[in-house]
Amino acid sequence: MVNCSCGDTSVSKDYGLFVTYPLRPEDTLKSVASAANLSSELIRSYNPGSNFTSGLVYIPGRDENGNYPSLKSSSGLSGGAIGGIVIAIVAVLLLLAGCYYFGYYKKKKAESSSALLKNAQVQLMPDQARNGSLVRGSESSGGPAGASPGLTGITVDKSVEFSYEELSTATDDFSLANKIGQGGFGAVYYAELRGEKAAIKKMDMQASREFLAELKVLTHVHHLNLVRLIGYCVEGSLFLVYEYIENGNLSQHLHGSGRDPLPWSTRVQIALDSARGLEYIHEHTVPVYIHRDIKSANILIDKNFHAKVADFGLTKLTEVGSNSLPTRLVGTFGYMPPEYAQYGDVSPKVDVYAFGVVLYELISAKEAIVKANGSVAESKGLVALFEEVLSQPDPKDDLLKMIDPRLGENCPLDSVRKMAQLAKACTHENPQLRPSMRSIVVALMTLSSSTEDWDVGSFYENQTIVSLMSGR
Ligand SMILES: Nc1ncnc2c1ncn2[C@@H]1O[C@H](COP(=O)(O)OP(=O)(O)O)[C@@H](O)[C@H]1O
Ligand SMILES: [Mg+2]
Repeated sequence: MVNCSCGDTSVSKDYGLFVTYPLRPEDTLKSVASAANLSSELIRSYNPGSNFTSGLVYIPGRDENGNYPSLKSSSGLSGGAIGGIVIAIVAVLLLLAGCYYFGYYKKKKAESSSALLKNAQVQLMPDQARNGSLVRGSESSGGPAGASPGLTGITVDKSVEFSYEELSTATDDFSLANKIGQGGFGAVYYAELRGEKAAIKKMDMQASREFLAELKVLTHVHHLNLVRLIGYCVEGSLFLVYEYIENGNLSQHLHGSGRDPLPWSTRVQIALDSARGLEYIHEHTVPVYIHRDIKSANILIDKNFHAKVADFGLTKLTEVGSNSLPTRLVGTFGYMPPEYAQYGDVSPKVDVYAFGVVLYELISAKEAIVKANGSVAESKGLVALFEEVLSQPDPKDDLLKMIDPRLGENCPLDSVRKMAQLAKACTHENPQLRPSMRSIVVALMTLSSSTEDWDVGSFYENQTIVSLMSGR
């Protein structure tokens, strides 16, 4: 995981809401802190990138019981500045009252449900700081449609807020025996929560940027091929609670030991499922998202061997027309396209490239970076390896050598060759010449229908429909 971060943000249980305050020339960190009646360290921790000379700063406000820090009039701030803060705080108070009012009625309606729906608000700090935006209200029906990217606060009122105690009990105090995964941003534990199997990702407070990104996407976007978020918790650490996906991640199936090899038809199905998940976030959501960390370890396999895309920690809103240089490079070596690694160009084609690498992994069961003889100096990308093979006038023999030996004799070579060609198109050096996820889904559907053995029996599963259709 490459993560050249340039500053941290914080999420706090005590300080869930923020007000933005435009700095005046005479302001300093000290004067702002004393006006807000908070410590300088706290203010600084919420404004890691600010030098307190100009621009916007964030001032935390207690959101529980409407108990806000009082302002001292004897501070070094000008009357106008204090007025600004007071107006902002009053606005947030009104907002909270609205949320509470709405939340009360919602709660009444859902009284019979055991789920603890909470109108908690989380604010996405870093992008908003750059855009100078303010917290948005709760209940943004239909998501951030129409809003400019980066200007949207997020609401998590469709998710359940869990207490630390509940999560700790459900995971046997986050015991090693319950640990089922480890990624770049956190450890994942198996849990049984309120009668449902769940997976809990525990992240450091420092990973709030990734936590918020994931919370934001998964509360707005729902699809069969994207992992489902059940809830969250922000006590001590940051926790995301997902539906439990029984069969681990694709990387474990391809590169790990102790699991049966995936048959070719299942690999095609997994490719199609993940392509559908990606097509959805690229083309059917408002706003559209770019995942930015597509890799086999972030594709989960369910009990029926269908795939779900997971790990939205690095997901980004597509900023149409944005020409600002990205401040950090994120993703995973071996999956990053040249235009992103070199120039920081972000587009949905970043995901298409990474998806192409996953296709090569499905064919070869090799890692995205192949280390010859364990030596780092001889590392080679899977893309380059396949490129050498596929650029030959007759690649058949060398392609055979690249195929996962665990696929056995019965592997349909024509289908493998087609998938390799699709992967080659996805990993084209020029992003504009890579296909869209939509075309990839179409190509994989064709491949899947020619690969699958038709299970005629399954058409007759539903006897009611059969009866209806036969006029009985
Ligand atoms: N919902 C889930 N069900 C089962 N296992 C999961 C689930 N979510 C994550 N995992 C496991 O935990 C690993 C890390 O999760 P991920 O969300 O990718 O975290 P990170 O952001 O730290 O990379 C995954 O590769 C997978 O093996
Ligand atoms: Mg991951």
